[in-house]
Amino acid sequence: MPKVEQETKIEPCNQNRKEGNSVMPRYFIWTIGCQMNKAESRQIADYLDSAGCQAATSFFNADLVILNTCVVRQSAENKVLGTLGLLKGLKNKNPNLQILVTGCFVDSDTQELERRFPHVDLLFKPGDYRELIAWEQKQGIPIEQRLLCYPFASLRAPAYSNDNRRAPSPCAFIPIIQGCDNFCSYCIVPYRRGREVSRPLEEIVCEVEELVGRGIKEVTLLGQNVDSYGHDLPGHPDLADLLNELNSIDDLVRIRFLTNHPKDISPKLIDTVASLSKVCEYLELPVQAGDDDILRAMRRGYTVEKYRELAHTIRRKIPRISLSTDIIVGFPGETEGQFEHSLSLLKEMRFDVVHVAAYSPRPGTIAWQEYQDNIPPEVKRERLHKIEELQEAIASELNSQLQGREVEVLVEGKKKEKWFGRTRSNKLVFFENTGDWLGQLARIQIEKTSPWSLRGEVKK
Ligand code: SAH
Ligand code: SF4
Ligand code: F3S
Repeated sequence: MPKVEQETKIEPCNQNRKEGNSVMPRYFIWTIGCQMNKAESRQIADYLDSAGCQAATSFFNADLVILNTCVVRQSAENKVLGTLGLLKGLKNKNPNLQILVTGCFVDSDTQELERRFPHVDLLFKPGDYRELIAWEQKQGIPIEQRLLCYPFASLRAPAYSNDNRRAPSPCAFIPIIQGCDNFCSYCIVPYRRGREVSRPLEEIVCEVEELVGRGIKEVTLLGQNVDSYGHDLPGHPDLADLLNELNSIDDLVRIRFLTNHPKDISPKLIDTVASLSKVCEYLELPVQAGDDDILRAMRRGYTVEKYRELAHTIRRKIPRISLSTDIIVGFPGETEGQFEHSLSLLKEMRFDVVHVAAYSPRPGTIAWQEYQDNIPPEVKRERLHKIEELQEAIASELNSQLQGREVEVLVEGKKKEKWFGRTRSNKLVFFENTGDWLGQLARIQIEKTSPWSLRGEVKK
């Protein structure tokens, strides 16, 4: 899941609103981390809106602040600690400010966190909305009976066409499986998100039908390891079964899913993606390293050769597929030669997008216990830059092949007078036009390309 440390602002949706005689709190949600966190913040915002709360535009005019946190690397954790420090100052000035913390910063030792951060009013595990509801009830926030069920998913406020208060988008992100059973040696996610728990297939289908009824055109199914969806459910439906069901929903235009684990992508799933018209030609396929010894130390469960075979099968069966990957540089003990193997794998595979990160030791993980973080920061930085440079050149070449071509763009919004949206292969496209394109499929002729985005004109 890309750009894990970027801050996301959840758009305000509500106008001032009174419930009975009391003015409802104005809330502000601060989010960093992966798409899962963003989706969960959206759910919390929808839920608070439905309960009658108002959205604030910053920490400074809010009565209720919710931090949705990420700790995938130390840099993300540092941002959380910095923000908690800022909020401590705000709470000193305004003791009525309520501070709630969720996301992967919340570990199982909440008592220790309560001791370290006494200015926090509630800590709740990611997705554990029952705690949030119980807390709100204690605060006297009136919760309608229909809001008390779990999860919130189907309670969303109108998502697109009939709600002009929200920054509208035709795209929705839907968590389908929580947690991760993989325990890659470097990764903290399984310790913070727990074991895999899938949502029932029928519940997801109902939610998507409801969203489509409200104007949603594209859904992205989310999970830390979306390929293991369903193994814990009665009858063991899998991701391919779910895609099949969703593909037959009228008016749904596109389906995406992330993130995959290469060892869990089945031949059935590849055939299903190849055959279903609404499933987009785009896959995130994180490799993490291009060297077998490093992959073994990372406990990824595949070799470079296995990964290569998988990618070739995918490309053979879905010829127009766009692939992206994640790479970690500077894993403990990574030699120059082993790093070169990662570089040469990227040269060979020519991914459309690469997310690269420097290894960051995470307390409690297997790598943290077993290996010393012995690659100096400047070497990590240098390796990271080498990967970025290489990928910039590859993406520039790949995207330039689209020059002059016609692509189909689902328009997501407008930025600085330019419409933007994505192709089925997940390329970001900008175009200028006076029409109202929001939520429409536009045929765009590409005129200019860069490694990161494309520009074009509506095809006449
Ligand atoms: N489930 C996904 C990844 C989730 S974490 C997968 O299996 O690939 C998102 C990304 O953060 C990972 O792909 C990895 O590249 C990076 N990451 C995770 N732990 C890290 C660590 N300790 N140091 C540096 N990068 C890390
Ligand atoms: Fe982390 Fe590995 Fe699970 Fe991805 S598959 S979330 S990298 S443990
Ligand atoms: Fe971060 Fe947790 Fe996502 S650690 S990347 S918010 S699963």
